[in-house]
Amino acid sequence: MQNADIQLRENTLNGYERVFGQPPDLLTLAPGRVNLIGAHIDYNEGFVLPAAIDKYIAVAAGVRRDDKLRIYSENYDALVETSANEPEWSSEKAWSNYVKGVAHFLLQAGFNLTGANVYVRGNIAACAGLSSSAALEMASAYAFLKLNKQSAPEADIIKLCRRAENEFVGVRCGIMDQFVSCLGKKDHTLFLDCRTLEFEYVPLPGDTRILVCDTGIKRELAASEYNRRRKECESGVQLLSQTLSGIRTLRDVSPEQFAKHQDRLPDGVRKRCLHAVAEMQRVQQSVQALKQGRLEDFGQLMYESHDSSRNNYEVSCVELDTIVEICAQMSGVYGARLSGGGFGGAVVCLVREEEKQEVLARLSSEYVARTGREFKSYVCSVVDGVRVCSV
Ligand code: GLA
Repeated sequence: MQNADIQLRENTLNGYERVFGQPPDLLTLAPGRVNLIGAHIDYNEGFVLPAAIDKYIAVAAGVRRDDKLRIYSENYDALVETSANEPEWSSEKAWSNYVKGVAHFLLQAGFNLTGANVYVRGNIAACAGLSSSAALEMASAYAFLKLNKQSAPEADIIKLCRRAENEFVGVRCGIMDQFVSCLGKKDHTLFLDCRTLEFEYVPLPGDTRILVCDTGIKRELAASEYNRRRKECESGVQLLSQTLSGIRTLRDVSPEQFAKHQDRLPDGVRKRCLHAVAEMQRVQQSVQALKQGRLEDFGQLMYESHDSSRNNYEVSCVELDTIVEICAQMSGVYGARLSGGGFGGAVVCLVREEEKQEVLARLSSEYVARTGREFKSYVCSVVDGVRVCSV
């Protein structure tokens, strides 16, 4: 463990004791992620290439004798109480729905849950496109399961967490974030087929580093815009299926088929589908490039992915574009693109280890000069997925 993780772990144990008056029974740590390429592809059942990073949500938990679920968030400084048998959705304390949603679907899957005290703390910035939500779900799922001395196959836990976010929280996200928060691997990217859930670990070359630049922009409408993009893809599939019989998602449409039939689509929907169909190809090409050490080609595909996210999927913003533009002028950066759902959040950059200081210095001065905003960045390590720690 690195210093930051040790610190987070200590603070979480101490925080739990401060709030609940005794030490917890266990602690879980689930990482956030970057997505190197494959923007808005998971729910279209294509391929993505995320990596888990050394930013975490920690959950400390202890059994209660009654059937209450008491959840405290250090980051929101708020305590929520609900029933462990029937967790209630909350409109004011929206952060607690991620934990409650996981409990809800564990109950629905037939697991018994005792009452519990749950303490949440994290160092993943919320709404930064680094997947604090999935990390919270994953850390909660492992905490509930271990607290109740139960276990389940990883794939089931991953799907259950996604369901919590889709059906309890109300964001129709895909499966990528939960998958990599659970099964990420140190120093590797995770090449995931979001239809079959088959995956392969692809090593990141030792002389590269992942740099995250957080714009600090959080857009209120992000969740509803996200759901809208998903609907647009679905309506594209529906219209295309009138001539391309048997297609279920955009995964089933080849670039050639799309070129031939795109005129059937209204322009907005056409652009969303164009992005998805081409991005699926880019991900496959990028994995080949990574495996063969062609990092310039890999980086170029990241830039193309960003352009298409901006122009076709329309999920970027000026600040994200500014960072990507500055990156594109520097030899020390192979590639850069928006990392998460977009509408603000962070840029992920693949940089040459030996040039990272120059890259950071230039990015910082140019970004501040061009936007007048603070420049926040971190050089990440790629880490393993969720873990349960002894306390
Ligand atoms: C969010 C969602 C993911 C994925 C990305 C966009 O992070 O949670 O499922 O769709 O956006 O690639």
